[in-house]
Amino acid sequence: MADSGKESEISLKRLPRSQKKKLARANKLQKIKEKRKSKKDLKKLKDKAIPNDTTRKYSKSIWKQRLKTALEDETSQKICIDFSVSNMMDSKECCKFAHQFNRLYGANKKSSSPVHLHITGVDKESELYKQCSEKNEGFEDYLMTISEKKHFELFDKEKLIYLTPDSDTPLTEIDSSKIYVISALVDETVEKNVTLNSAKAIGINTARLPIEEYMKRAYGNYTFNQVLTTNQGSYQIVYIILGAS
Ligand SMILES: C[S@@+](CC[C@H](N)C(=O)[O-])C[C@H]1O[C@@H](n2cnc3c(N)ncnc32)[C@H](O)[C@@H]1O
Repeated sequence: MADSGKESEISLKRLPRSQKKKLARANKLQKIKEKRKSKKDLKKLKDKAIPNDTTRKYSKSIWKQRLKTALEDETSQKICIDFSVSNMMDSKECCKFAHQFNRLYGANKKSSSPVHLHITGVDKESELYKQCSEKNEGFEDYLMTISEKKHFELFDKEKLIYLTPDSDTPLTEIDSSKIYVISALVDETVEKNVTLNSAKAIGINTARLPIEEYMKRAYGNYTFNQVLTTNQGSYQIVYIILGAS
């Protein structure tokens, strides 16, 4: 066998230059064809293994089902997003919240145990509602409850905990029997005590994220900005609650 290999090498060497060129071209063409074929085969394999559209449809049906269950199951964790603050915001701030809401809903969608989102104190004529509808495709059909009633008109006050950065009470655990309220407020020039005072006036308990306590432990005795910035605020809190539920 080895000899016949050597022989063919020698006979190749003996070929006229034009024949050698022809052969080289044929070899090159053959390699290109093989490369194309293996690419095609790989694509066929991939298409067979991951039928993209079907997978997308499948995962969509899963998150839809989970969100529906969260809406129907009385025991699921509830979170109210208080839209009654809409009159305190200008158009730019409403737009910022609309983008925040996109992430907030997205986080809930991706969660294996989503919460029942209640959008409360809604005024459908408000700039906030309009911006949310514009920036979140299908907003009005989202799997959540939208209500013109405020959180304290929908639920027992004793069950409500208004999350506000100015509360004296650190939130150390998530109690699934409580309903947490987060304001949709985006105030570029952070105004202290806005939500704390309105919660107090209604007689609702409040809590703040324990940023101070946890950050002190990690980084020593510094003071930290308690207010989650406008583009973190509500959706970060929902992340925390989702993580705990
Ligand atoms: C941008 S903050 C608005 C701060 C506003 N000055 C106020 O009085 O609430 C938007 C909302 O995110 C929530 N939030 C932000 N930081 C928080 C914290 N550290 N603890 C609890 N809730 C917080 C509150 O519900 C707050 O109303």
